[in-house]
Amino acid sequence: MSRIATLEIDGKKYEFPIVEGTENEIAIDIKSLRGSTGGITTLDPGYKNTGSCESAITFLNGEKGVLRYRGYSIEELAEKANFLEVAYLLIFGELPTRAQLDKFHSDIKAQSHVDEDVKKILDGFPKSAHPMGVLSSLTSALVAFNPSSVNVDSEEDMYNAIVRILAKFPVLTAWAYRKRAGLPLDYGDDSLGYVDNFLKMMFKKPNGEYASDKKVVDALDKLLILHADHEQNCSTSTVRIVGSSHAGLFASLSAGINALWGPLHGGANQAVIEMLEAIKEDGGDTKKFMAKAKDKEDPFRLMGFGHRVYKNFDPRAKIIKKSADEVLESLGIQDEVLDIAKGLEREALEDSYFVDRKLYPNVDFYSGIIYRALGIPVEMFTPMFALGRLPGWIAQWREMRLRKEPIGRPRQVYIGETQRSFKPIENR
Ligand code: CMC
Repeated sequence: MSRIATLEIDGKKYEFPIVEGTENEIAIDIKSLRGSTGGITTLDPGYKNTGSCESAITFLNGEKGVLRYRGYSIEELAEKANFLEVAYLLIFGELPTRAQLDKFHSDIKAQSHVDEDVKKILDGFPKSAHPMGVLSSLTSALVAFNPSSVNVDSEEDMYNAIVRILAKFPVLTAWAYRKRAGLPLDYGDDSLGYVDNFLKMMFKKPNGEYASDKKVVDALDKLLILHADHEQNCSTSTVRIVGSSHAGLFASLSAGINALWGPLHGGANQAVIEMLEAIKEDGGDTKKFMAKAKDKEDPFRLMGFGHRVYKNFDPRAKIIKKSADEVLESLGIQDEVLDIAKGLEREALEDSYFVDRKLYPNVDFYSGIIYRALGIPVEMFTPMFALGRLPGWIAQWREMRLRKEPIGRPRQVYIGETQRSFKPIENR
């Protein structure tokens, strides 16, 4: 029997259907609210209670600490799959066969060149420019070089736009880094795997060979998988809402990159390592920083702690913490900030402020420590998040287009002045 929710306003009752997801998530379908009530709307700043869409891509249960892509647990995918397989899974819904994966990879490789003129745009940026700004600008600029990627009316058009951006985005990410590092731009080597090739594009010196290290490739592969999708977060919702105007995939992604940049979202990974460094520089007194984080008069927050949805542990943080130990050990690196991070975690998990508010380490708490061990500089941490999140953004954009979702356009409750007459400037 279908269930309904009843809303009573000023004695009048309205009924709304209850929608149930495959994981028994329940939502009240309020599509008819404004029409039936004569214009009454809902108010939900930050969309904490609003389901913006129905989606079959990622399931997460914040109370239980569960994360699954297309039904597969994040723990199993991080252990057994590679990043490109996960990208295919997210975008197309099923794990690829060997033949499907090979075709996908070779279609990507066929598009891995970036127009030489894009280098002129990159040249215009100062070396000090943050690579997230560079990346969002270059991703947007790609529209001009690939105008056919905008009008994607068939699945084939969409596929072409998707493989294009999956091919060119790692090049742009590596170029953003090389520009900053004063290295000549490089195209990598398409005979390598997707992640291995990215590392080569980043780190190959003009006067030396690039030596692939399996431990490094595997560690980065895992990190990218863990970041690949996270349902309707700030950047993903941005991609879907921009895409809903049919602005095109690359423009939508460019907007998503900007949303990810903020320190409350993807920018947290950079903020975490800067915080841990600051604690180290300050003599390593974690208690002092814990006190700052708890002080409501102090804007300082314990970066890498807390999550809008996870009110239990973030399953990605668990995997990354273990991986950080393994990577540092296998690369023979001792990093004092890892000990500081573990100390902070221990203290926070015993502190009633954090316990009562259900604040646990999130995906960004340990990821920076691994990036650093892999030789990736701090300002590239958030671009690495973007590279990992790319398949998720694409999958969500594609789903939104295939479901023919309407243009995103929230309502508001107006709290400004009511109508008044214009005053000439001399009378104000
Ligand atoms: N340090 C200290 N206090 C915190 C923190 C923190 N990191 N996070 C939340 N709180 C407190 C907050 O002050 C509030 O306290 P009170 O109830 O006394 O006013 C309470 O916990 C609830 O916080 P909120 O800001 O209402 O929670 P939210 O769901 O709106 O925000 C968050 C979630 C992730 C933005 C927030 O926890 C935060 O700013 N964390 C630090 C930044 C961070 O690590 N971001 C990465 C998120 S994971 C990667 C991603 O998906 O982007």
